Amino acid sequence: MRKNIAAGNWKMNLTLDEGQKLASEVINMAKGEVSNDAEIILIPPFVHITSVEKLVGSAANVKVGAQNCSDQGSGAYTGETSVSMLKSAGVSYVVIGHSERRELFGEDNALLAAKTKAVLDGGLKPIYCCGEKLESREAEQHFAVNKEQIEEGLFGLSKEEILNVVIAYEPVWAIGTGVTASSDQAQEMHAYIRGLIAEKYDQETADSISILYGGSVKPGNAQELFAQPDVDGGLVGGASLKSRDFVDIIKSF
Ligand code: G3P
Repeated sequence: MRKNIAAGNWKMNLTLDEGQKLASEVINMAKGEVSNDAEIILIPPFVHITSVEKLVGSAANVKVGAQNCSDQGSGAYTGETSVSMLKSAGVSYVVIGHSERRELFGEDNALLAAKTKAVLDGGLKPIYCCGEKLESREAEQHFAVNKEQIEEGLFGLSKEEILNVVIAYEPVWAIGTGVTASSDQAQEMHAYIRGLIAEKYDQETADSISILYGGSVKPGNAQELFAQPDVDGGLVGGASLKSRDFVDIIKSF
């Protein structure tokens, strides 16, 4: 079901105490300051999940996410974390295919399709990431790159399954660089992605899916980005590590 979402990807940051402080500040500030119905997702490293979930508790509109998961259910996979473990810890969403997983850990579309299916089969919601590198955009291949990531990662899903997927378009050249995509660039790619879904499934399905933008979302640019018709919110990295900035981004809807 399509909704406005502000998701904070903490990446590999913060000790447990620092994470507790950040989560408490965001939850308490949002409670007092946020009047919109945007869903807030806190996405900490695995080690933080149970303690953050305890803080989130019954806070309206606040959910906990994970940054990755195994496509396997259980067994001899040292270092891995399964969907069922995440569900038992209170996780609602799982980020799949972040560009850092693709680039640094060699995760390809086939593995990401399997992870996405495992998340859905486990009753959680995938936040499936796509995005092109600068060289692809400069070569005008950015639509082809995102098309391949979306088709190979998601189009094996049924209509009922894909309705539970959140998509995050994160141009790699905007991640952590301070160089944010313009609202026109974001809207153009989000509309293109939504069009791919409409063509594969139908327009109603395409219009029911949240598509988030990620890549240097800040308090100063969030309102213009979120005002775009096909931008349903943000997947925020650096700015989500500062409670004031992240709450200001949440207030931007
Ligand atoms: O997953 C969100 C992240 O990749 C964006 O990072 O620091 O550019 O907001 P940042």
